[in-house]
Amino acid sequence: MATQLLSRVQSTPISEHVGMEFKHVDLNDLDENTFDAMRQALAYHGLVFVRDQQLTPEQHIAFARRWGEIDINNYFPANGGHPEIAEVRKAENQQTNIGGGWHTDHSYDQIPAMGSILLARETPPTGGDTLFASMSAAFDSLSDGLKDTLRTMRAVHSADHIYSKDGIYSKTDQAGDLKGHDLRTRAVHPVIIRHPRTGREILYVNPAFTLHFDGWTREESLPLLNYLYQVAMREEFQCRVTWAPGSIAIWDNRSTWHHAMNDYHGHRRLMHRITISGEPLS
Ligand code: SIN
Repeated sequence: MATQLLSRVQSTPISEHVGMEFKHVDLNDLDENTFDAMRQALAYHGLVFVRDQQLTPEQHIAFARRWGEIDINNYFPANGGHPEIAEVRKAENQQTNIGGGWHTDHSYDQIPAMGSILLARETPPTGGDTLFASMSAAFDSLSDGLKDTLRTMRAVHSADHIYSKDGIYSKTDQAGDLKGHDLRTRAVHPVIIRHPRTGREILYVNPAFTLHFDGWTREESLPLLNYLYQVAMREEFQCRVTWAPGSIAIWDNRSTWHHAMNDYHGHRRLMHRITISGEPLS
């Protein structure tokens, strides 16, 4: 695997298509060159991962502000005293986790978030990994004919079926933790977008929030959506990160999906997430 040296800082790809791990960095004392290298890695690899960071909530917020404006999550409980930090948590006695299916955060917003910065606070003894998948690699793997067709299409996204009063989480033991049941969301985005920094094309539909293609019924849309999801979930496009307290991931919501594994029943997992605002998609 290629390894890049920037002073003492080391950055190594996590898998062929997604993820770059940075070593020998202190996010509380990050020089501009290393921060630029992280920005570059995020744009080209979709995920930056760093271990062993000692960040207070204030330092987590300060680090997040270097990436852009903070987009306050409407559904997750806030960390007491820090509305910028959403808690992604599962207690010892809960069965359902948050984010336990492939998705990209905030695709239901008119201007979806650029990305999220997830910091592990408490992790189970084993399990609780997160999978990431590259939607640029998924797009590249399609035939030229299907790429051309998808380039002409748009898709409708919403979060209402997940977070509303009778949504998916309302029937689970996460119901009491979540809020925003009365919010209504709907956004129409191109099925293929271009990454604002690299210009690379990206497949921009996801199983959690995409309802149907614009102008098509859900019934008509599902066969093609399911085909695209099956391609996008191919293991060769994925990487897996294993967390310990102090691990932190920064991911690009436009070019990646993620999936939080729910394989640690009886143990607690607490993550602090800050979401960074994005820009209009095209
Ligand atoms: C999320 O979907 O934002 C949470 C991911 C995780 O907890 O690993």
